[in-house]
Amino acid sequence: MNNTPRVALVSGCSRAEGIGFEVCRQLALEGITVLLTARDEEKASSLAARLRDQDLEVHGHALDITNSDSVRTLVGFIDERYGRLDSLINNATGATRSRDPVSAADLASARQIVDVTLFGTWQLIQEMLPLLRKSDAARIVNVSSSAGLHSDPVLGLTSKWLGRPAYGIAKAALNALTAKFAAEFYDSGIKVNAVCPGLTATQPGMGSAARPVAEGAGAIVWAALLDEDGPSGGFYRDHERQAW
Ligand SMILES: NC(=O)c1ccc[n+]([C@@H]2O[C@H](COP(=O)([O-])OP(=O)(O)OC[C@H]3O[C@@H](n4cnc5c(N)ncnc54)[C@H](OP(=O)(O)O)[C@@H]3O)[C@@H](O)[C@H]2O)c1
Repeated sequence: MNNTPRVALVSGCSRAEGIGFEVCRQLALEGITVLLTARDEEKASSLAARLRDQDLEVHGHALDITNSDSVRTLVGFIDERYGRLDSLINNATGATRSRDPVSAADLASARQIVDVTLFGTWQLIQEMLPLLRKSDAARIVNVSSSAGLHSDPVLGLTSKWLGRPAYGIAKAALNALTAKFAAEFYDSGIKVNAVCPGLTATQPGMGSAARPVAEGAGAIVWAALLDEDGPSGGFYRDHERQAW
């Protein structure tokens, strides 16, 4: 690998309690230069400053993954400042609190969820590709969910839990996107994986089954730092490949 510090970008880091912020912290502890991004530039800047206060190399930037201008502005900045990108962590997602089943789901909201989770991620990968190709060990991590699996008996696509169908459908599409990119990049050195952080305590009242944020984020960081023998094209939970 190149001797200059690796550069990583994490999308969807608007909250200190969120998984994205903790992924930034853990990556920076590995000596990586981290671009912490959020739609709201002030939130990104102030969260990055909190990590710089801990002597970590983290910089805040605005990024709306559904807005081409926002994406391209950041691509231009990274190209000029660093000349490459080593890890892209697609943590941003569309979500809703609605528990309506698929037969009654609000389609405007469903479209917005798919737009962010699938097309926003897809666009971000496409636009960052010239920079990722300049890395000697590029890694792309799509932060997914068991809600997008056929195989998860509790929250999965075929479980009796019917809530938030658009979220599960969007994550299933994200898993498919992961497989298609990994297939295209087979033999290129660019590894692409989907990772579920597991039920993670990012909101109050999630109950004792929710794991600490550091654990959920750790599984994502693992995939962002895979060595050249590491896997590509899979869906992982706690480093274990899952059928989806
Ligand atoms: N927490 C869990 O139990 C759990 C379980 C499985 C998977 N996950 C996954 O883990 C990831 C992080 O989840 P979290 O719990 O930490 O929730 P979160 O803080 O709400 O993370 C979602 C982020 O996506 C951002 N976002 C939405 N639309 C965007 C856009 N167009 N461009 C850029 N960013 C956008 C949100 O920003 P705004 O604040 O601006 O809306 C927010 O920062 C998500 O992919 C989630 O699906 C979480």
